[in-house]
Amino acid sequence: MRKRTILGGVLAVATLGMSGLAAPATAAPDARLADVIPAPVEVRPNPAADFWINPATQIRTQPGAKGAKRVGDYLAGVLRPATGYPLPVAESRYSVLPTISLVLGDAEARIGKQGYQLDVTRKGVTIRANSASGLFAGVQTLRQLLPAEIESSGPRLRAWTVPGGRILDYPRFGYRGAMLDLARHFHTVPEIKRYIDDLARYKINHLHLHLADDQGWRIQIDSWPKLTAVGGGQGTGVDGAGGGYLTKADYAELNEYAAARQLTIVPEIDMPGHTNAALSSYAELNCDGVAPPPRTDMEVGYSSLCVGKENTYAFVEDVIREVAAMTPGPYLHLGGDEAEATTDADYRTFMRRVIPLVGKYGKRLAGWHEIAQADLPASAVPQFWDSAGGVDDNVARAAGNGSKILLSPANKSYLDMKYNENTELGLTWAGPTEVRDAYDWDPASAVRGVGERSVLGVEAPLWSETVRSIDDIEFLAFPRLPAIAEKGWSAKAGQDWESFRQRLAGHGPRWDLGGVNYYRSPQIPWPG
Ligand code: ACM
Repeated sequence: MRKRTILGGVLAVATLGMSGLAAPATAAPDARLADVIPAPVEVRPNPAADFWINPATQIRTQPGAKGAKRVGDYLAGVLRPATGYPLPVAESRYSVLPTISLVLGDAEARIGKQGYQLDVTRKGVTIRANSASGLFAGVQTLRQLLPAEIESSGPRLRAWTVPGGRILDYPRFGYRGAMLDLARHFHTVPEIKRYIDDLARYKINHLHLHLADDQGWRIQIDSWPKLTAVGGGQGTGVDGAGGGYLTKADYAELNEYAAARQLTIVPEIDMPGHTNAALSSYAELNCDGVAPPPRTDMEVGYSSLCVGKENTYAFVEDVIREVAAMTPGPYLHLGGDEAEATTDADYRTFMRRVIPLVGKYGKRLAGWHEIAQADLPASAVPQFWDSAGGVDDNVARAAGNGSKILLSPANKSYLDMKYNENTELGLTWAGPTEVRDAYDWDPASAVRGVGERSVLGVEAPLWSETVRSIDDIEFLAFPRLPAIAEKGWSAKAGQDWESFRQRLAGHGPRWDLGGVNYYRSPQIPWPG
């Protein structure tokens, strides 16, 4: 095999012409097989089986396996900039050259739909999975097994060694999510795409977009155009900063970009509270027929749709119908949190009318955990956002009735909390939250009455009151997002703070090279 590697190198140097990037034939790997985040289920290193990606390496998928081909194209896009290698993606039954093979089927049943097997031998790398999402997860693992320089945007002259051995891996929970608030501050399509790329590295497979709140309305609704013309205009961010909204074309583009990274976008339209942007855009939505002024402060709990007015339900149905039509994924999130300006009786009346509309338009209801005050179908997903260790009888009752609960305990998973009292960005009400705080909890005991089988997964929300740019987003997300990703993916037995902080340290250089802004937590032994 060594002979072929060297021959391949010679061939590809000729192919590469001017760039002349020939890698050394051998070199020890920088990463160890067990360095991966989230921690894989089984890792069996074999130091005699290291593989070198070289200028002749190809990426192979089976003929006609479209989903695998798409993952192969993605992998080539990840590996080409730093290696400078051509890395053709070929549909072929056999591997001839040194090959990274992405194989659909023939994988162990226990890895399920989202898991993968990764085998590294001297001949090549084989990732096997039962679905494209499993192959994609395996590709993210492969990326972390390469030297940190793989994240650089231009060619680097070095050996691209993958440590030999085998990984078998699958998630503990099917739903691993992050939420981004576009309402308190609007984030552009390129910023959201960049965040999707950040999430994909850590096997996060849902991006929940908080699309409407008191300050701004951020998604085009054709039947109620003033929502965006007024509620999404300039100056509608907190403190009058920024503004803007996603058109339907933008939203379709984001869905496509996310799908290519095996992520599902979950849209949220918060109601009946958190609705000042809608109420100030349309006077007729208000009980007294008078539009309140726009608000760009950070108060919560003062707005409510008019529960007694029929027009409210025409509005809500139009919005749900249009948002459902824009949404390829299964979930539609109706918010429902902090409805302090709605009486309890009105809240239940409102939800009784509105909840069936989500099913009517073919979607599965999600909502913040307050929706569990209402009678929910078993398919509904309450999202718990109180502190870990919390007690909520309604949530426990929903779990008892068959609902799966999504866990976002604010004191653990809220990425907008400050790291410490000196952190410039972020809020404090559930924090401060250092990396270890984000790591030290278990999803199966975060809420009384919600055990392992009632947990849909975990989600890390990032509210954007203090956030303006992608640099701000990344500073708050890294390194806590990988901690939450490990809570959602890794087996309980594979989770260990000491191991996590050591593995995390190796990601600092990757973020430096990839231009990812992050908090250099003193809890992590960063290199150099
Ligand atoms: C929330 O933080 N109000 C869901």
